[in-house]
Amino acid sequence: MAGGPVATGDGIGASAPKSKLAGILMTAFAAFGGILFGYDTGTISGIIQMDDWLRTFGNATTDTATYPLGYYLPSNRESLVVSILSAGTFFGALLGAPAADILGRRLGIMCSCLVFSLGVALQTGAPDMATFVVGRVFAGLGVGLVSTLVPMYQSECSPKWIRGAVVSGYQWAITIGLLLAAVINNATKDRQNHSSWQISIGIQFIWAFVLCAGMSYLPESPRWLIKKGKDKAAAKALARLTSLDAQDPEVEAELNDIRVALREEQALGESSYLDCFRFNNNKIALRTLSGIFIQAWQQLTGINFIFYYGTTFFKNSGIANPFLITIATSIVNVFMTLPGMWGVERFGRRSLLLWGAVLMCVCEFLVAIIGVTISVTNTAGQKALIALVCIYIAGFASTWGPIAWVITGEIFPLAIRAKAMSLSTASNWLWNFGIGYATPYLVNTGPGNAGLGVKVFFLWGSTCAGCFVFTYFCIPETKGLSLEQVDLLYQNSTPITSAKYRNELIAQDIHVSDYKGTADAHHDEKEATEKV
Ligand code: BGC
Repeated sequence: MAGGPVATGDGIGASAPKSKLAGILMTAFAAFGGILFGYDTGTISGIIQMDDWLRTFGNATTDTATYPLGYYLPSNRESLVVSILSAGTFFGALLGAPAADILGRRLGIMCSCLVFSLGVALQTGAPDMATFVVGRVFAGLGVGLVSTLVPMYQSECSPKWIRGAVVSGYQWAITIGLLLAAVINNATKDRQNHSSWQISIGIQFIWAFVLCAGMSYLPESPRWLIKKGKDKAAAKALARLTSLDAQDPEVEAELNDIRVALREEQALGESSYLDCFRFNNNKIALRTLSGIFIQAWQQLTGINFIFYYGTTFFKNSGIANPFLITIATSIVNVFMTLPGMWGVERFGRRSLLLWGAVLMCVCEFLVAIIGVTISVTNTAGQKALIALVCIYIAGFASTWGPIAWVITGEIFPLAIRAKAMSLSTASNWLWNFGIGYATPYLVNTGPGNAGLGVKVFFLWGSTCAGCFVFTYFCIPETKGLSLEQVDLLYQNSTPITSAKYRNELIAQDIHVSDYKGTADAHHDEKEATEKV
């Protein structure tokens, strides 16, 4: 309890001066992985509309009235090219677990860059559709791996007082990637040779190179090193991240906390996928399911409806250039992530998720109600709808966008973190795919379609209400706690009472090692050090 012998391990860099930026900058750099994610998901819809891409990979047609270019992409091929990335990302996210556990978080990210680059190379040099599609699969695997590994690395390495902001930086990079894709596609789309799409795709080598080269200079996650019994290396890594000496009592206390929490977990047995769903005092099943569902709910906010279909959907708004709508929504997305990065440490995860759900819910119901009331020729009304959609995006960008990643980075205990995070991330990609696939059928008119049109916003409004209920019952307040203190939070409080217990943990400086006794911990520490 408070005042216990080692009640000093406040989380990485707890008492290191906040001015020591080195560790923060290192973990913030890993956010660059978000650029790969955002750019790759954002670029394909523009590429498959480029003239030269259609001439190279599409089908020739004599129906030039419908297809003035003389080439078109049949729907089944369009959905193959677009959705095959999701298949890759889904499996990539799942592969993130063995990669993180076996190779380590840092080397795992570097290898993901290689897989991703292979996909980029195959797409850039593709002579035919088959090669292009295989390239999309590899790029998807790379993006999926990165989307599991980057938030994991960041959560495990950043100081606890700024962990939420650092992981939110990853979401910020995703939004920048989406914006870059829109801008670069627009800049190259009118070229009448292969360079139009080859530049857009090939530029991704730069993102992969920067991420891989940068990661080679960063330390490995001290938590992974402890898990592997490499205690000396863990001390060194933690010392680099905190700008302290490896023998500093602060570093030793932190490592001790990690070790005690891990040992307690491991005492319960193996950490297989089934163990991610154990009902025990540590509430593992609740934690894994919360991770899987928060990512599902993030997709169910309907955000990608706007990013994938918004342009077509709002073509009646009187804004002639659809590119402008894409740019406007992407810019709101980028800039409104910044208040989210600040707010996640100021107001906490839980309250921002709750408020974000309310704001998005109100906006979506207003869009639905106004949309069914006014006619499509009412240009002023249509512009009001776009304004509401922008407020909705602002709500997503400053809350659910970043915080879903922050939460999945911090609610799992070390023993199962890689597996549970990979399941959560895979859930994000599965829902991303499912919603993307189902939306045209829900919205469009004609046989086989539900013809919901603007009424689809009633659906998104209701799912945002679902986001509120889910957060209220399942997501605790984890702001400012070390990852090991999050274990105590789950053991001793419920999501609804968590804010109060969290305040106690912080006010009384309570730690895992205070609970479990330190003599044992020191004994283990010696043993583990000898193993290195
Ligand atoms: C989501 C993506 C979405 C993006 C928009 C991410 O957090 O997972 O599906 O496209 O945010 O910024």
